[in-house]
Amino acid sequence: MDSLKYNKIAAGVLCAGLLIMLFSKIGNILISPTKLSKNAYPIQVDKTLAQSSKVDSKTLVEPILALLSGANLEAGEKIAKKCTACHSFNSGGGNRVGPNLYNIVNKIIGQADFGYSKAFKSLKGQWSYEELNKFLYKPNQYVKGTKMNFVGLKKVNDRANLVAWLRAQSDTPEPLP
Ligand code: HEC
Repeated sequence: MDSLKYNKIAAGVLCAGLLIMLFSKIGNILISPTKLSKNAYPIQVDKTLAQSSKVDSKTLVEPILALLSGANLEAGEKIAKKCTACHSFNSGGGNRVGPNLYNIVNKIIGQADFGYSKAFKSLKGQWSYEELNKFLYKPNQYVKGTKMNFVGLKKVNDRANLVAWLRAQSDTPEPLP
């Protein structure tokens, strides 16, 4: 092959490239794609969840009040083992990763001598049986941004047994509902 042949081949390839570019431009002009300003498939975000940090009334967390009097304290104590990496439950017990939880039932939220997260500090109220129930169902849904890195207890009986056991970790356990 002489060098002219190479030149011809090179020219052919170049031309083909140019033509492809030209046609794709023309194609674009013909169809004129427009950028969508919105997602074609809008992603539904539950507004109430996005706005408030607390589990709102629409999130159905099965209540535990009716289960407390018949709760199984031994089973509750077993579940509390999931918490002991981060919490102590005895009187005068110190903070671990989380605050001591002696006397927690009906205590004001976030009142221990502990460095709570910002999100947690903004909570108001007290740890009634039902607030504990909702919190323990899914802590990071109850308070977005909490430092309590725990998935939660999905089973209503687990929460009832645990909260009944928590109630007993006190000098004077709160009355049962
Ligand atoms: C991985 C560590 C971790 C585990 C496991 C954990 N917690 Fe916590 N808990 C925390 C931290 C940290 C906080 C403080 C949250 C904040 O400041 O955002 C907290 C806060 C709390 C509070 C609020 C206390 C107050 O003073 O208002 C309660 C109640 C509680 N935890 C109960 C439990 C129970 C019950 C379990 C077991 C089922 C559990 N936690 C498991 C780390 C943990």
